Amino acid sequence: MCPSEAAEAARAGAILTIDLGALAENYRRLCAELNGVPCAAVVKADGYGLGLARVAPALFRAGARSFFVAQLDEAIALRGALPEAAQIYVLNGLAAGPPAEFQAHRVVPVLNSLGEVADWRAAARRAQRALAAALHIDTGMSRLGLPASELDRLAAEPERLEGIELGHVMSHLACANTPEHPLNAVQLAAFRAARARLPAAPASLANSSGIFLGPDYHFDLGRPGVALYGINPTPGRPNPMRQVVRLQGKILQVREIDAPRTVGYGATHRAAGPTRVATVAVGYADGYLRSLSNRGSAWLGNQRVPVVGRVSMDLITLDVTSAAPDSAHPGAWVDLIGPELPADDVAETAGTIGYEILTALGRRYHRVYLGG
Ligand SMILES: Cc1ncc(COP(=O)(O)O)c(C=O)c1O
Repeated sequence: MCPSEAAEAARAGAILTIDLGALAENYRRLCAELNGVPCAAVVKADGYGLGLARVAPALFRAGARSFFVAQLDEAIALRGALPEAAQIYVLNGLAAGPPAEFQAHRVVPVLNSLGEVADWRAAARRAQRALAAALHIDTGMSRLGLPASELDRLAAEPERLEGIELGHVMSHLACANTPEHPLNAVQLAAFRAARARLPAAPASLANSSGIFLGPDYHFDLGRPGVALYGINPTPGRPNPMRQVVRLQGKILQVREIDAPRTVGYGATHRAAGPTRVATVAVGYADGYLRSLSNRGSAWLGNQRVPVVGRVSMDLITLDVTSAAPDSAHPGAWVDLIGPELPADDVAETAGTIGYEILTALGRRYHRVYLGG
């Protein structure tokens, strides 16, 4: 660590460590599951909160060549971070920006409607060359992609795709993390039927959890996001991925309080007896969700300590009465996400999903990238 980084770390209320080695291992793990089928990387929302500029090049070095983001601005930032060989897709399609900007930055739209197909075809005509695109078919998500009525029209009038080089036909699974959900098989059948009605093109269906539904779902390209970042793609079973994120908060003060006395806004926690309370410099402004009030926990040394009282904007309070007296002191670090406290567990306690825990990670953390 250089002196300015060390000074920044010393000033920080929290340190977010992102293990790029574990990220690369997760990419290779997903490739192994795909058993020879290429694996893309979904890096939208700033690489699921972990930092696009660091995460995407690490995935490229691990072998990824296709990258998916949601928005055109994300794609433009990514173009600057990756070598030419990277193919960058924008999931929000031409609604994200005008065709000329996609062409100027060499990024590929995922076409989500017949209107977008027409606009891209017109752009190809103007450019007097074929332009690459992916085509998204809605097979059950009712969100983005061509609905059945538009698929019918496209199948009947395939000339609508003239001048469009179909890099991929794709769809997105609604329930892949619930293998027994009947919608998985319904979407698979609908996707197969849609492909059969379109010009031949490589296909992509599986997100992280979809990859674990088995080879029927793999087609020609896996499209994982969250599993790359360590979230369990097989809920209810052991996590096959390595943890990528560790979040450590700094203790600012430790105080002894005598009961009866309350802790924090709203006086929602009442100490039952003499209690030691450690105040940590992380709050909801940092993405530590307020729903963890009186529910979350942290690890101090080798001990779990509960969050007591409400999470406030910049601070949380922990009951460290049971911790070794010399472990809880100003300047000591507690794990809020870490080896003993995976993001999945934090999410469950907060009543949300790992995706939200990661993408909410705050901007005030001092970030350390390992293995870059
Ligand atoms: C169209 C599409 N494909 C792939 C993914 C990646 O999904 P996951 O993060 O569940 O792997 C997403 C994420 O939301 C998506 O919207």
